Amino acid sequence: MNEKINVIKEAFEKDILTIIDMKTLNDIRTKYLGKQGKITELSKMMKDIPNEQKKELGILVNEVRCLVTDSLEEKKKDLEEKALNEKLASEKIDVTVPSKKVKRGSKHPMTRIEEKFEDLFLSMGYTIYDGPEIESDENCFQKLNLPKGHAARDAQDTFYLKDEFENYLLRSQTSTAQVRAMEENTDKGPLRIVCPGKVYRRDEDATHSHQFMQIEGLVIDEDVSMADLKGTLELFCKTILEEKTKVRFRPSYFPFTEPSVEVDVTCFKCGGKGCPLCKQTGWIEVLGAGMVHPNVLEMSGYDSTKYQGFAFGTGMDRFAMFKYGITDIRTIYGNDIRFLTQFDRKDDE
Ligand code: DAH
Repeated sequence: MNEKINVIKEAFEKDILTIIDMKTLNDIRTKYLGKQGKITELSKMMKDIPNEQKKELGILVNEVRCLVTDSLEEKKKDLEEKALNEKLASEKIDVTVPSKKVKRGSKHPMTRIEEKFEDLFLSMGYTIYDGPEIESDENCFQKLNLPKGHAARDAQDTFYLKDEFENYLLRSQTSTAQVRAMEENTDKGPLRIVCPGKVYRRDEDATHSHQFMQIEGLVIDEDVSMADLKGTLELFCKTILEEKTKVRFRPSYFPFTEPSVEVDVTCFKCGGKGCPLCKQTGWIEVLGAGMVHPNVLEMSGYDSTKYQGFAFGTGMDRFAMFKYGITDIRTIYGNDIRFLTQFDRKDDE
């Protein structure tokens, strides 16, 4: 028996040197400690040993079992450590390697222009008002002094919903925000808002799209005059276009304002001399505006003997087209990345 133990010990000492990975380690563990392993067999043989030798041999068998178990455990730790070190070495980050170029997005030209409008009006003490794009006939027309059948509806009578929602449409003008803002303002006091947003009409050509962006402004107070409207719109046009831009007011008609005006600016391309863009007139029409009609004030609960107001509305797309030299409005909504990435530089020009 003694002899057998020594043979196993020597064999193990040779075997352990052949361990190179977890697989060889496990094979050797099975060879010695498995069900039919050499050491397990030694233990089984103990029952046939005469009693007086049992103690002494038992100690020897135990010793060799501990030697095998501990050595294998130690070998396992070595292997694990080695694997970890290899992994760390292979995953080392080399901070000196040049990075891949990150492609940054850029703001959509309409977002740019909208932010410019908002910045300007916020600086003048206005708040931004956001209205829904699906509007009732009342808010879109009736409460703006356009009852059913009014001739001025024709140009805007467009995308109505169906069935039980037939009284609703995709708003055709942001002027609807006036009604909402006045009605929500329960103390019926002063108001100063701008409402930028999408509107929908049945237009479709190089300068008109079925969906476009307007911005509406409304100021209500006790002492508001046409002079305030003129001053505000002059500042607005000069800031958004260029300082040297001249502004002209022409009498016009809108059902919700009285008096009403249309506002032209000197052509940004020829400076007013006359060119194909301004059809040789030197002027380009950019805004509708006027003093809020007393009916409109009254319909939304304002006392028109105490309060006056002015309002204006304009297409933001037109300003974007002027400012960025866009010739076809449809490209603004086409989502072509080659078009959309051209505008970063333009703001600084
Ligand atoms: N809502 C008008 C349109 O879409 C523009 C407009 C004209 C707005 C006069 C106004 C205004 O507030 O006073 O054509």
